Amino acid sequence: MCGIVAYVGPRDAVPILTEGLARLEYRGYDSAGLAVLGRAGDLRVRKAKVRVGELAAGLPARFKGAPGIGHTRWATHGEPSDLNAHPHIAGTIAVVHNGIIENADELRAELAADGVVLSSETDSEVLPHLIARSGEAELEDAVREALSRVVGTYGIAVVDARHPGVLVVARNGSPVVLGIGEKEMFAASDVAALVRYTRQVVHLDDGELATVRADGFRTSTLDRRATRKEPSLIEAEEAAYDAEGYTHFMRKEIHEQPAAVERALRGRLDLRFHTAHLGGLNLDPREAREIRRVKILGCGSAYYAGQVGAQLIEELARIPADAEPASEFRYRNPVVEADTLYVAVSQSGETYDTLAAVQELKRKGGRVLGVVNAVGSAIARECDGGVYLHAGPEIAVASTKAYTSTAVVFALLALHLGRIHDLSPADGRRIAEGLRALPAQIEEILKQEDRIAELAREYAAYRSMLFVGRVRGRPVAREGAQKLKEVSYVHAEAYPASELKHGPLALVSPELPAVAVVPDDELLDKNLSTIGEIRARRGRVLTVGHRETGDDAIVVPKNEPELDPILLSIPLQLLAYHAAVALGHDVDKPRNLAKSVTVE
Ligand code: G6P
Repeated sequence: MCGIVAYVGPRDAVPILTEGLARLEYRGYDSAGLAVLGRAGDLRVRKAKVRVGELAAGLPARFKGAPGIGHTRWATHGEPSDLNAHPHIAGTIAVVHNGIIENADELRAELAADGVVLSSETDSEVLPHLIARSGEAELEDAVREALSRVVGTYGIAVVDARHPGVLVVARNGSPVVLGIGEKEMFAASDVAALVRYTRQVVHLDDGELATVRADGFRTSTLDRRATRKEPSLIEAEEAAYDAEGYTHFMRKEIHEQPAAVERALRGRLDLRFHTAHLGGLNLDPREAREIRRVKILGCGSAYYAGQVGAQLIEELARIPADAEPASEFRYRNPVVEADTLYVAVSQSGETYDTLAAVQELKRKGGRVLGVVNAVGSAIARECDGGVYLHAGPEIAVASTKAYTSTAVVFALLALHLGRIHDLSPADGRRIAEGLRALPAQIEEILKQEDRIAELAREYAAYRSMLFVGRVRGRPVAREGAQKLKEVSYVHAEAYPASELKHGPLALVSPELPAVAVVPDDELLDKNLSTIGEIRARRGRVLTVGHRETGDDAIVVPKNEPELDPILLSIPLQLLAYHAAVALGHDVDKPRNLAKSVTVE
């Protein structure tokens, strides 16, 4: 959730680090810092509780050097402050760290008892001190020795003024990727920081360490076994990491959805047998027939997209399916069954709770598929098989295109499982055609942006909003409320429409409007009576559906009833986005949140 960038080579590292950090800022942004080795071999450090742009602007012209390391932080241990910002220093050594050191209290006490004065409240600060106290001559060995004392997760980058020209990086649970340049090398926690400089990258594995010099790198395990790494190419174009003229990444990503859905579908629909082909499932038809239950796990919007997925699988394949927050699942000593198919959902492929749930499942012999956007990420690698979203990089903290692509991939999975079970060819064709219609229908919805923005400005004036939906509309309501609260900070609560009269109806008044998700399906009448109940209490209702009902209405094109939830979410993304803009919030970097939550 924090960001790391590092450089070793002939150039001045500072502009490379600040540019890279700016691209990683979406991951965490409460403070930032840099350390470089100056020409005289001196360690130069600048860090502060500011955004990257401000840090860069405040650097004196003489602040230059290489190698260098940089960091943008999302606080876990110790509040955001100048002292708690990274890099952390001990003598000639500077370290930036992502992750959490679980035995930090113990290590801090041990260091303090030995007379070390710690200047921050962070867990990370123990690292430079442990490295500095190692008797090893080589920096790599000193880092290895320090890491042998550490329990927890880390991605780190280290420079030492006594070893100019060398950078040491290591990974355990928090990504580190090397970028290979021409007589220069880069390292980062995310390829987003590297695309501008190179497309050739090497992903470190957990428990791996690398010594990086301008002319190359050497990797090994923590227990000193040399490892061999094959470079791979970054898939996405550099432009995919830029806002490309949009004021915010969130808006850009909302508008990228027709293309993202197109990519999620590409090559996967079989129009002969009216099914879907998903190459990476590693599940033959006989094994697929033996599945008695599907359990979907994810966090945040990934979990809500999983709820849409569970509904689709149950409807189309008639296999009992449900979604659960990965963070809950992993802590409740779950019963893992051999005939259950587990599906882990994650845009980043890094979310710690989701990864831990997958690891718990694997330990108990469960079969896990990944529905993941980031190719080669930890969750993707840990699963037995899976389906990539191919949504392209998602930079805004609030998920939009990855959410929609996940729902589409679940529709493909449901179609695939359905056609192996009892879904008829006619129904298979109906769903396949519905899926093919989605990109153009999303375009239609996006054309209503001005009108939705107008509604958003009006509704942003309320302090709180209720979101209601029934069955297929329920995950849509939950994700709609999630989007609104994430970016506009307007309190939003989602409720099953049928449960309204069992509690939240007490809240309804002219001060509490409701967004009602009302598809034209077999539950339309029930939904209309819910709207009636709200309006009778003088609550204002904004409906999202296929006809004009309520006080205000957003009408979306009709697809097949099973696929309608995918379209119904799109206007709610625009509603949240424009409410946040109207309220003057930092839409792409909402307060207190981070894009990838790589801690528990
Ligand atoms: C964070 C983000 C959410 C995201 C969730 C899961 O909480 O702020 O937008 O939905 O993590 O992330 P993942 O990368 O696993 O999909």
